[in-house]
Amino acid sequence: SRVPGAGDEGAAAPTASGSPDQAAWSEPVVLTSADGVLDLDLTVAEADVVVAGATVRMMTYNGTVPGPTLHMRPGDTLRIRCENRLDEPTNLHTHGLYVSADGNSDNPFLNIGPGETFDYEIALPDDHPAGVFWYHPHHHGMVADQLFAGLYGAIVVDDEDWSVSPPRVLVVSDVTFSGGEVAGVTGADRMLGRTGETLLVNGQPAPTLRGPAGEEQRLLVVNACASRYLDLRTTGLGATVRGMDSARWDEPAATEGILLAPGNRADLVLTMPEAATDLIAAEYDRGRMGQGMMGGRSTASPEVVVLTMQPDAAASAPAISPVSPTAWTDLRDVAIDGTRSLTMTMGMGGGAGMRFLIDGREFAPGRVDQAVAIGTVEEWTIVNTSPMDHPFHLHIWPMQVLRQDGEEVAGVDVRDVVDVRAGSAVTVRIAFDAFPGRTVYHCHILDHEDLGMMGVIEAA
Ligand code: C2O
Ligand code: CU
Repeated sequence: SRVPGAGDEGAAAPTASGSPDQAAWSEPVVLTSADGVLDLDLTVAEADVVVAGATVRMMTYNGTVPGPTLHMRPGDTLRIRCENRLDEPTNLHTHGLYVSADGNSDNPFLNIGPGETFDYEIALPDDHPAGVFWYHPHHHGMVADQLFAGLYGAIVVDDEDWSVSPPRVLVVSDVTFSGGEVAGVTGADRMLGRTGETLLVNGQPAPTLRGPAGEEQRLLVVNACASRYLDLRTTGLGATVRGMDSARWDEPAATEGILLAPGNRADLVLTMPEAATDLIAAEYDRGRMGQGMMGGRSTASPEVVVLTMQPDAAASAPAISPVSPTAWTDLRDVAIDGTRSLTMTMGMGGGAGMRFLIDGREFAPGRVDQAVAIGTVEEWTIVNTSPMDHPFHLHIWPMQVLRQDGEEVAGVDVRDVVDVRAGSAVTVRIAFDAFPGRTVYHCHILDHEDLGMMGVIEAA
């Protein structure tokens, strides 16, 4: 079969050793919209790619991992002719884009069978916020496998300011290789959410980013890992956060660290240090599985080098321009039309030994779990009674986070993925101001989504 079992012992597989000169800096192919349209033929197929000098077989968009980076402007239309050359179904989700989910737009219920081609047409509204978004498959039951095998790419909705200080896109993913192929996973990996052995940045482990000491580097970081949280530690790198997901901060906020759950993105500015310095993703324990459950296995991902900042002897460079304000309205003081509470739980039984539920149910594509009215603002509390974190993702409509883990959130923090800690809760407000249609919300530990932790929302 295509993906070998976890027990296969393969030839030398690449590993992330953190050696600073292991990989040169590389970025995906960039495609930019012209005259308001980005027209793209996207082929989904297995291909040989080179990772840290070794040839490995992965699933690819147009032959590369990650797929091309798509640069667009608010008001543009994205036309993707998606051809599936895999021997299994797939489809495409434009994660975080504020667009319609209906018809051939960002519709997660579509199915592109093997050998089939589907034409997506995704129109960005004129007031679409700038930021970094991404695309990946969304065929329920196969999302984690296909993403882990290499299917992801970035979408950048450009800001006028970025023409002055163009950002670098970092698509961060993880994978395990075995025998020159992507390794299969066990039932326990699916329950816990798989963590790959090798962390990749734009398809290469621990690349080196060079520039003059003191130069500011604007990094748009996508956490495209299937399950791994990236607890970025930026000590010594003069870091400021300009935004998260589709939100921009009014003022750049200095930071020593930032947590990206699977699916989150950060707009980050780092300052090239005087001496080579590693950007580290610290160990993050997203589960508390100590009660004998699943043999007491840990869900902690180990500390790993994301990239090395390597100063060149050269003059300093232009400073990064300020952020532009977000297009989102602050929902904290508006009148709300309703509240609801959703509960994420895990229970015994099910395909992989555990069940992954929202409000006691597994995903059923034909059942509407939340019916909302266009033109309303609602307050949702997402409760997690399980012993693991679950990053909650809502398609289409962004969520303004009011309270997380017992703390009030300062400022306008608009996310499309919000981490709901084990045994904790998050409260968000959502403006259902456009886009009638049917789409989904789910845990963005994609193994959990594939095991049923997803629901259907219909806006009318
Ligand atoms: Cu990034 Cu429904 O997913
Ligand atoms: Cu989960």
